[in-house]
Amino acid sequence: MKLNTQTRPCSVLAGLLAVALASPAAWADPQRGAAPAVSGDRAAERAFVDALMAKMTLDEKLGQLNQPPGVGNNTGPEAMAGSEDQIRKGQIGSYLGTQGAELTCRLQRIAVEESRLGIPLLFAYDVIHGHRTIFPVPLGEAASFDPAEVQNAARVAAVEATAHGIHWTYAPMVDIARDPRWGRVVEGAGEDTYLGSVLAAARVRGFQGTDLAAPDTLLATAKHFVAYGAAEGGRDYDVADISERTLHEVYLPPFKAAVDAGAQSVMASFNEVAGVPMHAHQPLIEGVLRQAWGWDGLLVSDYTGVMELMPHGVAADREEAGRLGLRAGVDVDMVSTIYLKDLPAAVRAGRVPMAQVDASVRRVLNAKHRLGLFDDPYRYCTDDGARERALTLTPAHRQAARTMAQKSLVLLENNNDTLPLSRSLRTLAVIGPLADHPRAMLGNWAAIGREEDAVTPLAGLKAALGDGTRLIVAKGADIDSQDTSGFDAAVRAAKQADAVVMFLGEHPDMSAEANNRTTLDLPGVQERLALAVAATGKPVVAVLLNGRPLSIGALQGKVPAILEAWFPGVEGGHAIADVLLGDVNPSGKLPVTFPRNVGQVPIYYAHKNTGRPPREQEKYSSKYLDVHWTPQYPFGHGLSYTTFGYGDLSVKQPRLRADGQQEVAVRVTNTGPRAGVEVVQLYVRDDVASVTRPVKQLRGFQRVALEPGESRTVTFTLGFDDLAMYDAAMQRVVEPGTFTVFVGGSSADGVQAQFEVVRQ
Ligand code: BGC
Repeated sequence: MKLNTQTRPCSVLAGLLAVALASPAAWADPQRGAAPAVSGDRAAERAFVDALMAKMTLDEKLGQLNQPPGVGNNTGPEAMAGSEDQIRKGQIGSYLGTQGAELTCRLQRIAVEESRLGIPLLFAYDVIHGHRTIFPVPLGEAASFDPAEVQNAARVAAVEATAHGIHWTYAPMVDIARDPRWGRVVEGAGEDTYLGSVLAAARVRGFQGTDLAAPDTLLATAKHFVAYGAAEGGRDYDVADISERTLHEVYLPPFKAAVDAGAQSVMASFNEVAGVPMHAHQPLIEGVLRQAWGWDGLLVSDYTGVMELMPHGVAADREEAGRLGLRAGVDVDMVSTIYLKDLPAAVRAGRVPMAQVDASVRRVLNAKHRLGLFDDPYRYCTDDGARERALTLTPAHRQAARTMAQKSLVLLENNNDTLPLSRSLRTLAVIGPLADHPRAMLGNWAAIGREEDAVTPLAGLKAALGDGTRLIVAKGADIDSQDTSGFDAAVRAAKQADAVVMFLGEHPDMSAEANNRTTLDLPGVQERLALAVAATGKPVVAVLLNGRPLSIGALQGKVPAILEAWFPGVEGGHAIADVLLGDVNPSGKLPVTFPRNVGQVPIYYAHKNTGRPPREQEKYSSKYLDVHWTPQYPFGHGLSYTTFGYGDLSVKQPRLRADGQQEVAVRVTNTGPRAGVEVVQLYVRDDVASVTRPVKQLRGFQRVALEPGESRTVTFTLGFDDLAMYDAAMQRVVEPGTFTVFVGGSSADGVQAQFEVVRQ
């Protein structure tokens, strides 16, 4: 069978150029919040795939499950030739890390025109926080507490990535991360299951849009299934030995939210869960994800994840690894080549049921069908690169990245109203190893982002301040060295200046995959540098660029203003200048707790009370000898250049039926001198239950813009899911008894009220 290879480049290009020229808001999904439609009807899909599968040999079927890595990125011409031959033979169903309109089109043409059945390829890529226009790292985006903005960031990424021939992104990463030693904390939405779930859904909607067959939408992949963030010791790939309750309450919900939002793909995680490696975890993949949740998408292994069943110690050889992976429901074998090379004999000998192969092949073909590739395999690439050029790093994309970055910045400290800086400063010292570090703007997993695209803080400040302010630049120290020889120059610079901004933090390769740390301190001598500069007595601001919570208690009280900037993307330097100079009032909030030191880890706001909760005067309570039990900065913390007051908290129904809906209202007032945005946060506690409950759990948040002196009543609705828990039998129930609601500007402050849930 040969597929229809006709393309309609003109109409596709015209439509997408219209998107590129429109305002940023035009990219936003017009039906924000609505589940995306999967194109095509399922009966037609089934008939089409049945007919195709009837023509496929076993080898062609297993070829569809094979995903080799990166042609054109890390392989030479010879490998390319071998790869082309494999495509002709039908041995490749999809590619990892292969992109570019020209290359993907060329490979697609071989698949469609030169293979026996002409089945199009899928091109997968790690489009994590932008493709060429790099946005803040996901943890930074999460600090915005702004699902619409996060959705828009994913939408822009999808528009760019699809113009580069990509069909499938390995994002969003929805792992809950409560151990900041783990480098991959930077890739997700932080520690909280509720925030993580809301943003997981937003990102899926952004990537997939409302029509998967449109030429600017991608398959989204919720990863890594599951409990990858629970790695022991914060070591990547390590064991997650957690209870069934923790799995269901903390780690699974963001995946449920992603699949409910329509995510068409899920990636298995490298870790084991309580003794079973996830690539062999039939009960969680087939049982929970597919059967209990009714999800019918495509499950991809992680990089050599199937092969790793051998070192995990559950498979004696490649064939056994392949058998376990396929049986568990892992459809696509990324990089191991085990399905392709080792399963044919096993299937022929009856050691692997053909039905398992067929189920996985069907899911691969379904995905291709849903993307519309059988109608037009070139819809993502055939236009002589015009679309790729037109939709890459456009001014509108950059503007979206700047807005996202502005919202991601979190003001941790601002003593003496050190910020915003005055525009009439005559001299400003710009100090620190990250002041002019383009790579740190991009962060890790920066797809095809380029350093030359990035606006550093130094460049951003220069552009914003113009010639009126003299900038005195001194690096002071490297990111991670013991060399203090630059301190003197830095201190001299500070002494000459009216104010000082220091850019401190981590190298981008100190977080993300396999980049774990045993300390959360500022690397190298940066803390000493900050203290030496602060000792000048000048107004000093520390801007942090980092991929995880840092323990920066030593700066508190010494450095009057601290701004958390994460790795903020190509427009980061402008966004930082916007906030430092007060053009934008910061509104970000921490999506993850900042510990006082690494010894407090794991530390997260939704902890249990214990039988002996910490008390100052009580030795035999749950705390430390050497450090206070509270964190340096709690989840949800973030200051503004104005202040907000909370009052008049009310619950509509003091007595609520278990299946009822509660309305919570609170009066929020801008009590300071400037207009600002507050992230109003609602937390709930089930006071007494049949099993222990967290001391509080986020159950709602809203970004509220208020003029100075303005008040607004903000309302939240709480339903079954917000109050429910798993009882001892793991049934989801709302139990009678009192609940406390807390509303405030962080997880550690605010006003509270109580209501009672009564039997029906
Ligand atoms: C990572 C995944 C990623 C994959 C493909 C793996 O090492 O764990 O998150 O999607 O590589 O690049």
